[in-house]
Amino acid sequence: MSAPDSFSRTQITLHWIIAVLVIFQLVLHEGMEDAWEIREDGGTVSLINPHVVVGTLVLVLAIWRLGLRLTRGVPPAPSSEPAPLRLLAAGTHWAFYALLFIMPFSGMALWFLEAEAAGEVHKTARLVLIALIFLHLAGALAQHFWFKTDVLKRMLGRA
Ligand code: HEM
Ligand code: HEM
Repeated sequence: MSAPDSFSRTQITLHWIIAVLVIFQLVLHEGMEDAWEIREDGGTVSLINPHVVVGTLVLVLAIWRLGLRLTRGVPPAPSSEPAPLRLLAAGTHWAFYALLFIMPFSGMALWFLEAEAAGEVHKTARLVLIALIFLHLAGALAQHFWFKTDVLKRMLGRA
């Protein structure tokens, strides 16, 4: 498979929708924590709520996105990018894919199967996810303002 020159419209749209949904999940989770506490205390709540719906949607969109990455491919890193940074970017992207599966699955295992260990995974993975988002953001801004490449522009569909 030869690498394409640019991201497709669908790849770009999926990237930004997933980014918004993931940030939503990371910022607005209090309702879910309250619901979990009620269940732990023996109470009953609806099993379907915004955290469950949005988290499951992230999983479905991530599967779609990964499928596109594996079949269509993604544009290569700029040739001017130093090898260690290229490796860091690739590692960050694959770690994102792993977390886009780990977060929803661990959440489901806790919520539907009451697997406490999955709850620990959910909490720890979220810290890794937050750290990666900051690293990824710094990388995207560094590409644009420091290395002056088209990496940010191509993810905005403007390259
Ligand atoms: C991308 C997907 C997801 C993200 C980023 C995410 C993120 C989070 C975050 C940040 C918390 C708060 C944890 C804390 O403060 O320690 C949380 C709690 C929780 N999430 Fe998710 N979540 C996702 C998907 C799901 C799904 C699909 C489910 C279930 C179907 C789920 C079930 C839960 C439960 C039960 C809690 C409460 C845990 C507790 O209070 O101990 N999550 N989630
Ligand atoms: C918050 C959740 C985010 C996730 C999970 C995420 C995930 C990813 C992944 C997996 C890729 C690799 C390309 C692919 O497989 O299609 C990527 C590329 C990219 N992301 Fe994000 N991203 C997020 C947020 C952001 C934000 C806030 C920016 C803002 C500047 C950004 C800018 C970019 C750029 C510029 C690329 C293209 C990199 C390249 O062409 O090599 N991302 N993102």
